[in-house]
Amino acid sequence: MSKPVLQIIIGSTRPGRVGPSIATWFYDLAVADGSFEVELVDLAKVNLPLFDEPKHPLLRSYEHEHTKKWSQTIARADAIVFVIPEYNHSYNAATKNAIDYLNHEWRYKSLGLVSYGGVAMGVRAIQALKPIFMALRLFYCGEVTIPLPTVPVVDGVFSGNDVLNAGAKAILKEIADVAPALKTIRDAHSS
Ligand SMILES: Cc1cc2nc3c(=O)[nH]c(=O)nc-3n(C[C@H](O)[C@H](O)[C@H](O)COP(=O)(O)O)c2cc1C
Repeated sequence: MSKPVLQIIIGSTRPGRVGPSIATWFYDLAVADGSFEVELVDLAKVNLPLFDEPKHPLLRSYEHEHTKKWSQTIARADAIVFVIPEYNHSYNAATKNAIDYLNHEWRYKSLGLVSYGGVAMGVRAIQALKPIFMALRLFYCGEVTIPLPTVPVVDGVFSGNDVLNAGAKAILKEIADVAPALKTIRDAHSS
């Protein structure tokens, strides 16, 4: 049987961001886990404009090529891990914009959250995102919150620590555990 596809989405798009360093840390742990086909998805490269579809995404009737491409990307995922910064006590706008483009493509997939920020560790970004993911019926499999002042990115590399590595591994285990059940639900809904 093929492995579940796990996508790690880099939410930050700004020049000089640390998001890719943190996503790479999680990516390496996911590859080492061995349970998944792992993909990095960088919202800076996806480069979506501000939401510009005339129809509600529930209809899945997309006008623009960028939306069709984005839909195909997320549709192939079995599980999603968002790596998000905290901006102004919440999540960043590019993340919400990318989420809003789609609907069915997110549903009944397992969800991990990795946030980072100052002393608040991005917790407020995660708390603000949770109701959105509930609305889209993603299945929450845990979170890791990273305090950059005490566990920094050094020369573009984020190495985590024992606690953060254990948290990331716990998310990966939960995602692997629920993946078969969620696939059954998705298959039932698509038939
Ligand atoms: C617009 C903006 C707002 C921010 N607001 C917060 C905040 O509310 N809380 C926090 O802990 N850090 C905040 N920060 C600091 C970010 O967590 C930090 O710059 C982090 O590196 C941002 O992620 P990125 O580099 O991947 O974009 C903010 C940064 C920016 C650019």
